Amino acid sequence: MTRAGTDRQPWTATVLTLFPEAFPGLLGSSLAGKGLERDLWRLETLDIRGFARDKHRSVDDTPFGGGAGMVMRPDVVGAAVEASAESPGPLVYLSPRGRTFDQAMAREFAEEPGLRLLCGRYEGIDERVLEASGAREVSIGDYVLSGGEVAAQVVLDAVVRLLPGVMGNEASGGDESFEGDLLEYPHYTRPAEWQGRSVPEVLLSGHHERVRQWRRARAEDITERRRPDLWHRYLERRRTGGNEEG
Ligand code: ADE
Repeated sequence: MTRAGTDRQPWTATVLTLFPEAFPGLLGSSLAGKGLERDLWRLETLDIRGFARDKHRSVDDTPFGGGAGMVMRPDVVGAAVEASAESPGPLVYLSPRGRTFDQAMAREFAEEPGLRLLCGRYEGIDERVLEASGAREVSIGDYVLSGGEVAAQVVLDAVVRLLPGVMGNEASGGDESFEGDLLEYPHYTRPAEWQGRSVPEVLLSGHHERVRQWRRARAEDITERRRPDLWHRYLERRRTGGNEEG
C-alpha cells in the first residue's frame, strides 16, 4: 500500500477478542473515525472463538486448583496469538494486573508500527500463554472491568489521536493535560456573560503574553491542588531542566 509517496503501512491495531462486533465502537466516530476512513490508521479484529477446535467451540474451562469463574484456554488463545504474529507491533494484554497506562505509554505506542491488543474475559487467560508470548500487560486503572475490550478502546483512543494527521488542524499536544505534567487550564467561549458568570477579563484583552501567563498559572494551581503527584514531578523536571523521564 502506497501512501503519500511512502511504502509504509498505516499504523495498525489488531484486536484479539471474543467480541469483534464491539469494534470500532466509538473509534468509528469523531476524529479517530475520520482517520480510519482516510486510512491514517487501520483496525483489524481476530475472533478468538474462531480458533476453538472442539464441537462446542469452547474457549474457556474451569481453573485447575478450583475456585470461581472460568479461565481462557491456552490452546485456543495461543492459536489466536500465533495467527496475529504477522500483524505489526508488540502484543499487549489488557489486564488490571498490568502497568498503568499513561500519556508517556501512549506516545511510545504511537511510535510503534501498530499494536496487537489481547482482550480477556472471564477470570483471565491461562498464564502460560502470557509467558510464552511475552505479552506486555497494561491496565487502564485500578478497577476491574468485565473484559479487556473497553480498555483496548481507551488505549487506542489515546494513541490514535497522536498519529500524524489524525487531529487535523487542532493543536496536537503541547497545551494538553499531562503533556509537560500539568493539567489543563480552564476554557471559555461565547457568550462572555452566562447566568451572571463572566469570563476572566484577561482572556478578552487580546494580550497574548498575558493570556499565556494566566493559563500557565491556572494550570499550575489546578495541578498543585488536585494532583500532588504530577505537581511534584513537574517541579522536579523544572529543577533538572526537564530531562527526567517519567
Ligand atoms: N480488564 C479488566 N479490567 C481491566 C483494567 N482495569 N485495565 C485493563 N484491562 C482490564
